[in-house]
Amino acid sequence: MAEHVTIVEVGPRDGLQAEPAIVATADKIALVDLLSATGLTRIEAASFVNPARVPQMADGAAVMAGIARRPGIRYAALAPNLRGLEAAEAAGADEIAIFASASESFSRANINCSVAESLARFAPVLAAARRPVRAYVSCITDCPFEGRVAPGAVLALARRLHEMGCHEICLADTIGRAEPATLAQVLDLVTAELPPARLAGHFHDTGGRALDNISTALGYGLRIFDSAVGGLGGCPFAPGASGNVATGAVVAHLAALGFETGIAEAPLARAAELALRLTGRRPDGAANQSPDA
Ligand code: HMG
Ligand code: MG
Repeated sequence: MAEHVTIVEVGPRDGLQAEPAIVATADKIALVDLLSATGLTRIEAASFVNPARVPQMADGAAVMAGIARRPGIRYAALAPNLRGLEAAEAAGADEIAIFASASESFSRANINCSVAESLARFAPVLAAARRPVRAYVSCITDCPFEGRVAPGAVLALARRLHEMGCHEICLADTIGRAEPATLAQVLDLVTAELPPARLAGHFHDTGGRALDNISTALGYGLRIFDSAVGGLGGCPFAPGASGNVATGAVVAHLAALGFETGIAEAPLARAAELALRLTGRRPDGAANQSPDA
């Protein structure tokens, strides 16, 4: 039997947060509902951050309230602090995602504090959380402001977040500049200390290497990967960050390598079609085109 790989769909959050246009709440709900019919078991559906900084995500509570929850699917939400945790749990998030950065400059740009301060902010979140907490480590190989990031900084942060009680550490190539060789340097260090079953990979596809990076991570035993329907995504605070690797491409890539994901092609294509229509993207990934163009 083919070995299973879990896909975490982040399009409704990482995808839509970076779109210049604000997608209507009802359309976000429709997108999550279509994704819920694909066989996905994990969907990051919302984010509870400062709405002045990410207006695209301001309606997280309404999105969480409006989706038709399917048994067996974990609906997650991003929370940067205690206030975000309270809002996410009140909205019924099954899992909380906190996010830290291996680079100081991106930490400042994204969450307005140093890496050490962010850990101090996350400690009470972990203590209070009633749901499992996943942690992102951004900029695992490259930072939009500092360039190359030392693998040791990634290990130190991942280790700390693991010790603090995060059930999963998601290693994120925020701006899509990782390559198999630079990723391998990180994974050599991190998998020597942390069990691969507790790690996930989150690859933006700016450099077109995301699928190669997934192959590399599979070689280190990782079996959980994030992707975004239609290849949406980015980060408003990471200049140059383009879309996450597309869910359909990851499913096909994994199938070709002999892994199964439980995700069905036709319903996923329907969700991708909606994602592209809502964001005015074309199927080739070009952004901000008129839907009719
Ligand atoms: P701060 O340090 O307090 O400073 O916030 P601030 O000026 O940015 O925000 C202060 C205001 O936010 C105050 O309101 C707070 O009440 C409010 P004001 O007095 O100005 O009216 N506030 C909140 N409002 C709603 N919900 C909250 C909340 N917390 C404070 N939870 C903070 C720090 C982190 C909150 C802020 O900087 C922020 O929201 N940043 C946005 C971060 C973000 O959403 N980034 C994108 C997601 S991360 C990502 O995409 C990377 C990832 O995909 C992995 C990868 O690819 O690397 C996960
Ligand atoms: Mg991201």
